[in-house]
Amino acid sequence: MTSAVRMTGIVKRFPGVVANDGVDVDIRAGEVHALLGENGAGKSTLSNILTGLYRPDEGTVEINGQAMQFSSPRDALDAGIGMVHQHFRLVSTFTVAENVVLGEPDSPFMMDQSRVAQQVEELSNRYGLAVDPSARIWQLSVGEQQRVEIIKVLYRGAKVLILDEPTAVLTPIEADALFKTLRAMVAEGRTVIFISHKLDEVMKVSDRVTVLRGGKTVGTVETANTNTRELASLMVGRSVEFNRVTRSNPADVSHTVLTLSGVSARDDRGRDALHGVSLTVGRGEIVGVAGVAGNGQRELAEAISGMRALSSGHIDVSGERVQSGRARSAIAKGVAHIPEDRLHTGLASSHSVEDNLALKNYRSSSLSKFRVLRRKAIRAQATDLVQNYDVKTPDTVTPVRLLSGGNVQKVLLAREFSSLPKVLIAASPTRGLDVGAIETVRARLVEAAERGVGILLISEDLDEIMSLADRIVVMYEGRLVDEVAAEAADRERLGLTMGGSTVSGGAR
Ligand SMILES: Nc1ncnc2c1ncn2[C@@H]1O[C@H](COP(=O)(O)OP(=O)(O)O)[C@@H](O)[C@H]1O
Ligand SMILES: [Mg+2]
Repeated sequence: MTSAVRMTGIVKRFPGVVANDGVDVDIRAGEVHALLGENGAGKSTLSNILTGLYRPDEGTVEINGQAMQFSSPRDALDAGIGMVHQHFRLVSTFTVAENVVLGEPDSPFMMDQSRVAQQVEELSNRYGLAVDPSARIWQLSVGEQQRVEIIKVLYRGAKVLILDEPTAVLTPIEADALFKTLRAMVAEGRTVIFISHKLDEVMKVSDRVTVLRGGKTVGTVETANTNTRELASLMVGRSVEFNRVTRSNPADVSHTVLTLSGVSARDDRGRDALHGVSLTVGRGEIVGVAGVAGNGQRELAEAISGMRALSSGHIDVSGERVQSGRARSAIAKGVAHIPEDRLHTGLASSHSVEDNLALKNYRSSSLSKFRVLRRKAIRAQATDLVQNYDVKTPDTVTPVRLLSGGNVQKVLLAREFSSLPKVLIAASPTRGLDVGAIETVRARLVEAAERGVGILLISEDLDEIMSLADRIVVMYEGRLVDEVAAEAADRERLGLTMGGSTVSGGAR
């Protein structure tokens, strides 16, 4: 059987991370081949290599049995490889037909527009890509814009189409229509590489699946011979031994510190991102929120910390209502927040360590009563915190931006915990940290829980959640779809529900 695309031993390094670490993948002509993997598994990097955006550090790419070296997306397209971009590159004031020919050697306005429109129409009929060639891009929905991107790639004669998480922007109905289109394309002998972390979709649309984990190929399976359960365990891996952290002081769940009642909220683009989320966190309890990023976790964290207005529902901290969308109200009620995007939203990076550590309580009397005492108190507090949290910094006046990621994270933790919160929202608190820093951060989280802080630990790292949390909820498409006690948690089941599958019997 001919391989349309064969990638062998692909290695791609970025500073501090090996994104592809010896990836092998063999894609047959005329199949829908899924690349499945959790966030960060290396899927996009691999597709960027195949489309000539990145050059691999090692390894070979063969197209139809011929070794290739692409130095630009143009090269890849000449070899028949086309990418349907996740972030559309369309000109919003141009028509569909104009966008389709944009970037072609002849300028769009030199070409016979009616002929182009006719060809667009033909492609759109043949593959079920409903779109009006004369409509302007700004008039189209996101789903329609994606169809234009697909038509554009087809128009250029791509034989192999790569779609990187194409359903992320689609409604379920649009996604089903896309799957029909993909099947129609392979029926005509084209080849589709479908990138996803959603198990059900992969089962529905693909012929074969290659699973990536941690930059490595785990294996390739025939879709007909596998199931979501097996794919889930391949995707998340289950060989890792992880130990539950034992706590000297158990959670007191009879005492609720955080209550979410039917909380809904929209994302930055105004789409519904949280759908009626109800959740409680007890005193000293660590509740893990598992899920693949982009399923509403960020909106959840922001809603609780008052950085995002609710569209319905309400949030209470120790029985007191937090004002929707008012960060100050959340802080006053005792909510601390370690955001995902540390340098940008967490800290003032050009300011010193000590000023950052004082940022939240500069109004409190001990630090601000008298101007002179204030600086002394700030410095004394910072010196203490730097020591307790093992922040590696030359001194307390060093700007935060000069510290390494792990130390920035420790500063943030130190600041949030020194505000004596009732509730801490920790979003991926150890992501990107080295082993030592991870241990410090985890130990401080557990310590805080033992002091009675209720912690919502939002993370894609199942090991982290399973070793720290008392209870685990799973988020998928803005809803809580599963809940289990951590000691009863099972990776496979979590992997399944994170991928949008329902678990028969067990799920609520
Ligand atoms: N341009 C880049 N610079 C540095 N690191 C990168 C870059 N692109 C990806 N990475 C890192 O490489 C790893 C794999 O990323 P990616 O290929 O985007 O994974 P996936 O698409 O499976 O989520 C991640 O750790 C990511 O942070
Ligand atoms: Mg990706």
